[in-house]
Amino acid sequence: MKHPSPYNTLQSYLENSNFRKVMVVCDERILQLHEEFVRIHFADNQHTQFFFFPIPVTESHKEMSMVMQLLDQLLIHHFDKNHLIINLGGGIISDLGGFAAAVYKRGIPFINVPTTLLGMVDAAHGGKNGVNFHHLKNGLGSIYFPQQVFIEPLFLYTLSDQEWLNGFAELLKTALIGDAELWYKLELWVLGESLSQLRSRISAQVIKQVANIKNGLVQQDPQDRGVRQQLNFGHTIGHALESLHLEKETELPHGFAVAAGIYYETELATRKGILAINQKKRVQRVIQRLYDIPQLDQSEQSRLIHFISQDKKNKNGEIHMSLISEIGKGIHGVPVSIAEIESLFRE
Ligand SMILES: NC(=O)c1ccc[n+]([C@@H]2O[C@H](COP(=O)([O-])OP(=O)(O)OC[C@H]3O[C@@H](n4cnc5c(N)ncnc54)[C@H](O)[C@@H]3O)[C@@H](O)[C@H]2O)c1
Repeated sequence: MKHPSPYNTLQSYLENSNFRKVMVVCDERILQLHEEFVRIHFADNQHTQFFFFPIPVTESHKEMSMVMQLLDQLLIHHFDKNHLIINLGGGIISDLGGFAAAVYKRGIPFINVPTTLLGMVDAAHGGKNGVNFHHLKNGLGSIYFPQQVFIEPLFLYTLSDQEWLNGFAELLKTALIGDAELWYKLELWVLGESLSQLRSRISAQVIKQVANIKNGLVQQDPQDRGVRQQLNFGHTIGHALESLHLEKETELPHGFAVAAGIYYETELATRKGILAINQKKRVQRVIQRLYDIPQLDQSEQSRLIHFISQDKKNKNGEIHMSLISEIGKGIHGVPVSIAEIESLFRE
C-alpha cells in the first residue's frame, strides 16, 4: 500500500515520474466538459506520449468486453510495467480501468483522478475494482491499489445535483462511522443551508478528510475481513433496495439507496439498544432533509428480505451488519435476525 502522496498536483506527479507512455481511460463526457484540463495535463511532450481510451459511461458499459478492448489497446501500443494508466472519471471508470491495470501483464501502475464526488470520497480509494458480469454487479474484480489518487474539486462544478447527492450520501456515511466532529459540521450545513450553499462547503479539505477515514480503515484491513466492513454501514439495506429496483426496472442511484439504508439501519441500531434515540433522530433528520425514504408495500418488503438474506456478507445463513454505536463510531459484524429487519418496515 502507498504512503501519503509527496506530490501536490497531478501535473507535478507526471513531471516527476517521467512515464514514457500513459493511457488515459476517460469518461467521454469529461473530454468535452473539461477539455482545458485534459489539454493542459495530457499533451504529448519530449518525455511522455499520451493515448486515450474514452468510454461512454453507463453501468451497461462497465463490463468485460470494454476491458478487453482496453487491454487490446495496451497491447497494440506496447504498454508494460514501466507505463501508466490514468483513470479520469467517476467510479465506473476507476472500477474498469483499475481492473484492466490489475490483470494486464499481472499488474501495471495506475492512478485515479476522480471526477464525481462519489469517486473522490469513495470509489477511487481502497483498491477495489471490477466490472459487472451477466447480472452480477461487480461480479468480476480484484483488489489492486492505485499509486496515487488526485482530488481536483474543479470537476465538481459540472456535476448535476443528483450526481452530487449520490456522492454526498457516502460522505455522510463515512463521517458517521469515523468522525463525529465532521458529522456535526455537516449536520449544521445540511439543516441550515440551501443545496448550493452546501455544495460550496464541500471543499478539497473536507473531501480529503473523508477519504482519509476510508483509507485508514483500508490500511488496517486491506482484504476487507474486519474493520474495513464498517464502510458497509447503510449498505445491507441499501444494496437490497438497489436490487429491488433493478428487479422492477426502475432507477435508484446507489447513493440514494445508501441514504435510505442509513435511515433504516440507524433505526435498527436504536431498536437493538446500540445507538441512543436522540442520536438516531439527528441522523434521520439530516438524511430526510436531502433524500426520499422509500416506503415499501408488503410484497416489496418480502423481496427486500429475500435480497438481504442473499447478501454476500452473511455468514452461515446469519445476517451480519455494520452499524453505528454513536455518531462517529462504526461497528461491524453485528448479528441481526430477519424478524428484526421485518419489524423495521412494519412499524
Ligand atoms: N470500487 C469501489 O470501491 C466503489 C465504491 C463505490 C462505487 N463504486 C462504483 O462506482 C460506480 C458509480 O460511480 P460514480 O457515481 O462515481 O459515477 P459514474 O462513473 O457512474 O458517473 C455518473 C455520471 O456522472 C457523469 N460525470 C462524471 N463526472 C462528471 C463531471 N465532473 N461533471 C459532469 N458529469 C460527470 C458521468 O458521465 C455519468 O453520466 C458504480 O459502478 C459503483 O459500483 C465503486
